[in-house]
Amino acid sequence: MVHIPVLLNEVIDFLQCESDKVYVDATLGDGGHAEYILKKSSPAGILIGIDRDEDSVRFASNRLSLYKKRIFLFHENFRNIKNIINNRVRIPKVDGILFDLGVSTRQLMTAERGFSFSHDAPLDMRMDRSSGVNAAEIIHDTSEKELRDIIFRYGEERWAKEISHAICRERRKMPLTTTSQLAEIIVSAIPPAYRYKRIHPATKTFQAIRIFVNNELGILGDAIRDAITILNSGGRVCVVSYHSLEDRVVKNLFKEMERGCICPPHIPRCICGREGIINILTKKPVIPSEGEVTINPRSRSAKLRVAEKTI
Ligand SMILES: C[S@@+](CC[C@H](N)C(=O)[O-])C[C@H]1O[C@@H](n2cnc3c(N)ncnc32)[C@H](O)[C@@H]1O
Repeated sequence: MVHIPVLLNEVIDFLQCESDKVYVDATLGDGGHAEYILKKSSPAGILIGIDRDEDSVRFASNRLSLYKKRIFLFHENFRNIKNIINNRVRIPKVDGILFDLGVSTRQLMTAERGFSFSHDAPLDMRMDRSSGVNAAEIIHDTSEKELRDIIFRYGEERWAKEISHAICRERRKMPLTTTSQLAEIIVSAIPPAYRYKRIHPATKTFQAIRIFVNNELGILGDAIRDAITILNSGGRVCVVSYHSLEDRVVKNLFKEMERGCICPPHIPRCICGREGIINILTKKPVIPSEGEVTINPRSRSAKLRVAEKTI
């Protein structure tokens, strides 16, 4: 199932794609946004695509084959965005950058990736299967308290204590290696009256473990900061997030980079001398229309924030 790009028109409008300019899609996925950036920047706009998932890079490379003279694709983590642009593509600055965070529908729906409780599969959840620790290892090697913190913090799951306790009880009896095993334990840990709500009871815990496995929040702030340093003056960065914690990182970082000054509030005049380097273009995050959510329910939690480099 191909991923439907979220807030596509809004992102494309904010990026103001033009020929002879250079754009980075730091989360290439299935190449949906990338394809439109290439169309809108015809005939000579360049697109640099990055994804830490090798399958996504392969899929997008096929999809974008028509534009192969104008694309550079990298199987890489966007935490290395500055190095990729400056040392591998060998250009100092770019004109627009997109981060469309999280996982794609195709990753979620590919059973063997282990992202979803809807398919029985090995508990993996790594976006980059060539490195790192998978979800089964986290489930087995993490203390009950740490598990509870992960599920509470990244999943905002009110039953985190009960769920982590049930996981630790069951893992003592047998190895927990599949998505179905984990989903069943989660369901059984939640009081019956709360089990059958609109969203599946395992949704938040699966999301929390995925965020932890991929260190999604740990690298976000530094990556966006680096991305802004490689923007030309007038260039824009668009960030689509799907989780309140991600959105908070983006919101606070944009505010800090707009304000510049980092003097403590009790100091009457600025002594740090730092100047703001961006203008925030979205005072409130842009969210999908009702129409978009109806066509693509996965877009419902999306929030787009955009900033423009001023120097
Ligand atoms: C929501 S999808 C992007 C979908 C894409 N915009 C499209 O239209 O098809 C997010 C993608 O970002 C990738 N990703 C997430 N974190 C990443 C990171 N730190 N570095 C590189 N890619 C990342 C995921 O592997 C996934 O393919």
